[in-house]
Amino acid sequence: MKKGRILSGMRPTGKLHLGNYVGALESWVKLQEEYQNYHMVANWHALTTSYQNVSSFHRDTIDMVIDWIAAGIDPQESVLFVQSDIIEHAELHLLFSMLITVARLERNPTVKEQIRELNLEENVSYGHLGYPVLQAADVLIYKANLVPVGEDQVPHIEITREIARRFNSLYGKVFPEPEVYLTLFSRFPGLDGNRMSKSIGNTILLSDAPEEIESKVLMAVTDPQKIRLTDKGHPDICTVFAYHQRFNPGEVSTIRGDCENARLGCVECKKNLARTLVNFLAEFRKKRQELERNEKKIEEILVAGAERAREIAQATMEEVRSVMKIR
Ligand code: TRP
Repeated sequence: MKKGRILSGMRPTGKLHLGNYVGALESWVKLQEEYQNYHMVANWHALTTSYQNVSSFHRDTIDMVIDWIAAGIDPQESVLFVQSDIIEHAELHLLFSMLITVARLERNPTVKEQIRELNLEENVSYGHLGYPVLQAADVLIYKANLVPVGEDQVPHIEITREIARRFNSLYGKVFPEPEVYLTLFSRFPGLDGNRMSKSIGNTILLSDAPEEIESKVLMAVTDPQKIRLTDKGHPDICTVFAYHQRFNPGEVSTIRGDCENARLGCVECKKNLARTLVNFLAEFRKKRQELERNEKKIEEILVAGAERAREIAQATMEEVRSVMKIR
């Protein structure tokens, strides 16, 4: 017996990186035995910032779903689908859009940060400002109890909860108030110490070949005060050490001691990390190569997933229309 339902989504960004893995995917895999999981390719969400540039959406969707499965999401256990295949999300979004004020949406710190980063100020679209309302529809249409997301998404799930409460108090109890399952490491550092992100170009992709992983790791920034092997290092400010902490727990204390006492040079430490990551990703790489040879199967998985998702979404919409007297 499963404990409840999970819904989570990712925008179709193509091949995933280690930050996506430790920030989200890993917990999806961990939670799939205990909960009934729904995982969605958020292609409508991607339009908020990429509506002018849609040519890679299909390719990026397939690449991302291949990574999900290669990382351990089982498409028999978990329901994998594309948001736009379930048009009921759009209907629920419209109804929810009446239950929240523009002022409330404008206070959302994550949206504010995006607007600032993209210099949108006066030019933010209606759809962009309202995407947390769409997200509320994504979550609530499946009556999900738990939403595994990183820190940046917490303000959106707060809006989801507010909309659920408001709906229930106006029309009767239809929706549960979902909880956030906060994924750790949601801001995993890239090779330059900034947050790992495709747009910054500091990623290690899960699908990178062993040689690529090694050459990327060798370029990573370390403690700037440790120039020679015989300089004492400060692991707590070193990106490479942060990776060891995450992927090489058995050796962390030795590495710390050797670095702080000037017995370990950065090159050797990086080579060790590259080996660790290559091993860590070995099984993933094998599975991914198999899946790449049969992309038709990925399409089939998404079609089958949409069928399973649609059944729940349609049932919820019948309830919603009925309590709202929409025929
Ligand atoms: N907004 C999320 C992001 O930008 C993606 C997303 C869309 C999502 N709908 C969701 C995440 C529902 C969790 C639940 O990454």
